[in-house]
Amino acid sequence: MIPDVLMLLVSIVGSLLLLVFSPLLHLMNAFRNKSFPTPKVIVITGVTSGIGRSLALKYADNGVVLALIGRSMDKLNELKADCQRKAPNCQVTLAQIDVSHRDKLKMFLSEFDAQHSVDLVIANAGVSDAALSKEMSYEEKAHEIINTNVNGVMNTLLPLLPSFRKRRHGQIVIIGSLAPFLSMVYPTYSASKAAVNSYALTLRHELMPYGIGVTMVAPGFVFTHLTDVLGSKLPMAVSSEYAAQTIHDGVSK
Ligand SMILES: NC(=O)c1ccc[n+]([C@@H]2O[C@H](COP(=O)([O-])OP(=O)(O)OC[C@H]3O[C@@H](n4cnc5c(N)ncnc54)[C@H](OP(=O)(O)O)[C@@H]3O)[C@@H](O)[C@H]2O)c1
Repeated sequence: MIPDVLMLLVSIVGSLLLLVFSPLLHLMNAFRNKSFPTPKVIVITGVTSGIGRSLALKYADNGVVLALIGRSMDKLNELKADCQRKAPNCQVTLAQIDVSHRDKLKMFLSEFDAQHSVDLVIANAGVSDAALSKEMSYEEKAHEIINTNVNGVMNTLLPLLPSFRKRRHGQIVIIGSLAPFLSMVYPTYSASKAAVNSYALTLRHELMPYGIGVTMVAPGFVFTHLTDVLGSKLPMAVSSEYAAQTIHDGVSK
């Protein structure tokens, strides 16, 4: 049995190492040549608020084709208008789909990919214990989190993998989290993000020989609906626009 205090020390040391080495990793990245062409056909899930919405607006550009996936049609329409206000010649396809609905999502993604050939897919949709309805039981919340944060990510990526492999082209971005490195609160959320963090890092190796890029994004605190309930004094928290810009810049390298 490993004592709790030892586990806590290990996570603190791990986090400190990450803090110390991250400037070095940034520096190494700055000297690396860009290896992926600028994506023109982009799929993003969970775009109706927060980081996903800011990512959609960041990628909206003339000549770009966006597939924006979310659950609220009103919010999707609003976002489409905002994207086309920014870039009138940006083509936007909206899909009102819950990412846990595997068959519906697969049908949409397969058709969209056959028409446009996806360059970049961002699996962003996610929920946490704190942001879910108070009406839900602990058990219901746990299943909802796994269905969205783990199965939803798989449902978003797996339908595109065969054609990415065939074309030997494509980029995959998975929005994970720093939460599993701390393992202090929200066990299901933490476990769901540990699963996708790990999946992304391992998939990266599996797909490297095909020239397909996989980026694991592990944000700290970002001010969004997800963190609203945690108050406004979150350590090192950034805006969703800042997070989207950082993700965009990281993915383009
Ligand atoms: N904010 C942070 O501090 C933070 C830190 C680390 C990682 N993240 C991750 O970043 C991602 C985006 O979260 P956020 O902070 O931007 O929170 P947010 O504002 O609550 O956005 C989450 C988005 O996911 C959508 N979504 C949730 N369940 C869905 C489902 N089953 N099907 C389709 N869409 C669904 C939501 O749509 P509805 O409006 O329909 O609910 C919303 O558009 C999540 O994966 C989250 O875990 C956030």
